[in-house]
Amino acid sequence: MKSLIRKFLTLIGAENLIDKLYNGYFTFKERLQYAILYPVILKIPFAQNFYFVFSKSFGHELKMFISARKDYLKKKHNKTDNLFLLRRNIHRLEKGLLMKNRRNIFALDYIEETVELFKNIAETTPYNDQIKWANDILTEYFKVTSSAPKIDRAHKIYKPIILKLDTSLTFTPYLAKTHHVNSKEAFKTLAQNRKSVRYFDNTKLPDRKLMDEAVEIAALAPSSCNRQPFYFRIIDEPEMVKKVSHLPGGTKGFAENIVAIVAVIGQMNVSPSISDRHLMYVDGSLAAMNFMLALESMGIASCPLNWPEDKAKDNIAGKILGLDKYERPIMMIAYGYAAEDGKLACSVRKPLEQLRKYN
Ligand SMILES: Cc1cc2nc3c(=O)[nH]c(=O)nc-3n(C[C@H](O)[C@H](O)[C@H](O)COP(=O)(O)O)c2cc1C
Repeated sequence: MKSLIRKFLTLIGAENLIDKLYNGYFTFKERLQYAILYPVILKIPFAQNFYFVFSKSFGHELKMFISARKDYLKKKHNKTDNLFLLRRNIHRLEKGLLMKNRRNIFALDYIEETVELFKNIAETTPYNDQIKWANDILTEYFKVTSSAPKIDRAHKIYKPIILKLDTSLTFTPYLAKTHHVNSKEAFKTLAQNRKSVRYFDNTKLPDRKLMDEAVEIAALAPSSCNRQPFYFRIIDEPEMVKKVSHLPGGTKGFAENIVAIVAVIGQMNVSPSISDRHLMYVDGSLAAMNFMLALESMGIASCPLNWPEDKAKDNIAGKILGLDKYERPIMMIAYGYAAEDGKLACSVRKPLEQLRKYN
């Protein structure tokens, strides 16, 4: 329709005039916003809330946050599978254990909750390193703490579980080592070689074993309280790839060349606190960077793809990928073997003076 209107306007010679009016309107609107409207809104309490009250984007984020909080609190109070809470509490215990001036009594406000959660999760999920980590930390905790009513009650719940689990302590705090491997040049080369590739060889796909290894390397990225509020949804079946690669707006012009794609899915139910609502983006992005570097080290090319805050897009992706209400893509990553006839953008970086300030 738009192109038809454009053709008609060109035909009657009015295209330039319409363009001028259109640009003039936007210039006027934006000048009004930065010069008058926004300075005024910023000074009046609550005015910002009213200004954005009908914003679909903020409303969408709010709804997602409330869904996430509902899920988190429900799992917390049913003491079922709140893995994020267990991981956070175990991490807090771990930090308590490694303190040089460690106290004999600590974690009183969450030790009972942790042990109950651990009991339920350990009994219902397959034994893995994550469960063993929690087990090892709890064992160490009860070894080094003194008697106190809350600790004793928690210990009573914990004792029968520990008997069933492996008692060799593998995942307790250990001494730091300086790793004297001179790998700066190798790392720089890897970082330099990773480029956003938009043309892929459509005759071969990276093996899933390599993709799994890349995910495991991605998971070595730091995350707030070691909660890891994300997972990698790897899409390598042609039908699904076709559906998903057209979703990010930034694949215009090369979506057809994408042979496989990953959706890095963020999980907002990591915490009930509104101030933690960005964790999934920070933690997910750190992991995504590790992931892309891991791919690069295996000769697999990738291209990160923007996933804007967009209700309609989220709804479509949610349906295609079967996401929960508190989950959404953080970004997508196209991947595959680079096509030899595909070009790369130089994308020159900001100079050092613009990138860092000391103190
Ligand atoms: C979060 C994120 C979103 C991006 N989104 C897109 C995108 O939608 N389309 C695209 O072609 N490139 C996208 N890129 C790639 C950037 O354009 C690219 O990383 C940047 O220009 C630097 O170039 P290089 O990656 O080749 O070094 C994205 C990169 C990031 C980190």
